[in-house]
Amino acid sequence: MNGDEICQKLDSLWAERVDIDQLLASAVEYLHHSNPRFHWTGIYELFPDNVLRLGPFIGAPTDHVFIAVGQGVCGSAVAEKRNKNIPDVTKEPNYLACSSATQSELVVLIRKGETIFAQIDIDSHEYDAFDPHTVKEIEKVADWLANAYMWHLKSGILQGGSTKV
Ligand code: SME
Repeated sequence: MNGDEICQKLDSLWAERVDIDQLLASAVEYLHHSNPRFHWTGIYELFPDNVLRLGPFIGAPTDHVFIAVGQGVCGSAVAEKRNKNIPDVTKEPNYLACSSATQSELVVLIRKGETIFAQIDIDSHEYDAFDPHTVKEIEKVADWLANAYMWHLKSGILQGGSTKV
């Protein structure tokens, strides 16, 4: 599946009114199976205490369940408010190792303007696994999820309930 097809599948789930956690889990599943170079695919959510917390993921369990903003590739993407494409993790000084098999890593922020909700983090056992086309497809899914967060936030406020963001 490409990015557009993944977004269409998420549209169908949305129409069935599944909740944000299920949407995130499904996005991870579709993304992970969209490319054989993706060996670990997960979503970290940004909480108000400026800590990223691991949400749904597929791949080997990681010790990095909580990552402070500024730490590692994931935390520095938030601190610098930009996506990170690391072709060779051995050359990245601010890298938190998840698996010794990982060679390259991509972090795409799930954001609306300056507001960051979460991020898609993908590790590959291949060097330089994320070409510009691949990144664009993942960005489409991240943009779709940013809209879902906006709706989640709005409906939480309207219902007077608590939201994570
Ligand atoms: N490598 C990341 C940590 C998360 S694991 O890859 C799942 C980092 O440097 O922030």
